[in-house]
Amino acid sequence: MSEIPSSRPRVLSGMRPTGKLHLGNYMGALANWVKLQDDYECYFFVADWHALTTDYANPSRIKLNTLDVALDWLAAGLDPERSTIFIQSHVLQHAELNLLLGMMTPLGWLERVPTYKEQQENLKGKDLTNFGFLGYPVLMASDILLYQTQCVPVGMDQSAHVELTREVARRFNSLYKCSVFPEPEALFTPTAKLTGTDGRKMSKSYGNTIGLTEAPDSVTAKITSMSTNGQRIRQTDGGDPELCPVFDLHKIFSSPDVTAEMQTGCRAASIRCETCKAKAAEAVCSVTGPIYEKRMQMENNIEQTWEMLRAQSVKASKRAEQTMVEVREVIDLSHELGETGQYFGKREAINEGGPARAVPVEPYMYNMSSLLFNENEWNSKTESEQKKSIKTLWIHMVKRDIQLKFELNRSFDSIERELEEPAITPKGKRVFNDSSRVDRSATQEPEWFFRVPAKSFEIWVLLNGFNDTDRLYMDGFVIPQKVFSQPFAQAKKALKKDEKIPVVLRRDGDRFLLSIHGSDPVDVTEMRGNYEPLQ
Ligand code: TRP
Ligand code: SF4
Repeated sequence: MSEIPSSRPRVLSGMRPTGKLHLGNYMGALANWVKLQDDYECYFFVADWHALTTDYANPSRIKLNTLDVALDWLAAGLDPERSTIFIQSHVLQHAELNLLLGMMTPLGWLERVPTYKEQQENLKGKDLTNFGFLGYPVLMASDILLYQTQCVPVGMDQSAHVELTREVARRFNSLYKCSVFPEPEALFTPTAKLTGTDGRKMSKSYGNTIGLTEAPDSVTAKITSMSTNGQRIRQTDGGDPELCPVFDLHKIFSSPDVTAEMQTGCRAASIRCETCKAKAAEAVCSVTGPIYEKRMQMENNIEQTWEMLRAQSVKASKRAEQTMVEVREVIDLSHELGETGQYFGKREAINEGGPARAVPVEPYMYNMSSLLFNENEWNSKTESEQKKSIKTLWIHMVKRDIQLKFELNRSFDSIERELEEPAITPKGKRVFNDSSRVDRSATQEPEWFFRVPAKSFEIWVLLNGFNDTDRLYMDGFVIPQKVFSQPFAQAKKALKKDEKIPVVLRRDGDRFLLSIHGSDPVDVTEMRGNYEPLQ
């Protein structure tokens, strides 16, 4: 199976399983989907759960209709080698995301979706006061966002649903300070409105459809018996082809030559309607005939087709799960214990070189060692995990006397700027925070530069990071005053008022050395990762 390069933008669309497709569905959507496969990473699914929002009382034909839709798709050229073609209810993550998005979607948004009231009016025979029906757009948003989809090819009738999806995505990202969901764009299919056999719009409810996978002789029979909408009742009279639904078929399915020939022949009464219709039938069947054949083949191997759809659904679940891992992570529902483990039990504190003692765990008292990563560990984290780690580091390292604002979409640079602001421990000790970063490739034994204002601090927290291409690996040192007070005092004397004191942290093998304004380096290796609560 050929791997689709994931750099292509993702496209997703679905249809409710309402049985076999007609030519209108093909021209209005499916033919476009078939083309999209060349340029996008595509996901197409049968929205069988959506069908239950209105047909919950009578689900007996759901599987049959689902297969009918899927077979028509495959017959028309949706290609499981290039796209993922699956059944919604086989990918349980749709339900999980639906539940989570349901938590944050205001009822008002749903009540205001125009299709909600309309459908309740249109389907008077059904009780549509159910929760699931109101939640239809949330389920649809889940379908779309689950694959972090960029483009959604749909008809105009779905525009309110896509708009709601965008709102839900924004709300999620802003609530959880993340960028898990891109805001999807609707790709509206230009509506090649197709006329049905009776001259009205082709629609199942009018019973005027031509099936996409109808047998050619049946298609021909339908077209032969089409009404001409009052044109050429007498074959000796000319007619206006623009008023005749048969001519609509020519315009879509016949070659320009044949179309022109029929147009003039109709006006001049030089061809018979019979001939015109036969040509239209021929043109339609040249499109639908091969699709019909392909469908028959697949119907004859229905078990195999079903197994293929199941395998495709497994493939979809794998992609969906990737998103859900990110989603659970930002809502703090990840399946890993992670940093939360730090809140429980007793652990050792390293306290200014004193004897280790147990410290009761309070929210700001994090053992930050879980936030120290080697480069590989850091790089194996997702972007949102990295951001979350930095945020945790930031919140729990010290208790600050300023109101913290967390805007995690910002670059690391501005996070660093924030860290320079003074902070105060619960016991009122002033803490200096700074961070410095080096380019991994720039030097073998890296040095980090800090500039410390010549003010008094009891503790320095120096974060040092490696910049490796576009990723950052963080490490850190908590340095008590007794280590830096002497060289700091000397440096202060040598410098002008308000001038900052240059501090260099250098790695020498597995040791870390701190030099303040050119003073003798002090070994601070033991202070590395000493993120015990600062008292
Ligand atoms: N509501 C769509 C329709 O009735 C079907 C659908 C469900 C859908 N989920 C979707 C379409 C996600 C696009 C994307 O046509
Ligand atoms: Fe319709 Fe063709 Fe007859 Fe003209 S010739 S009325 S287009 S069927």
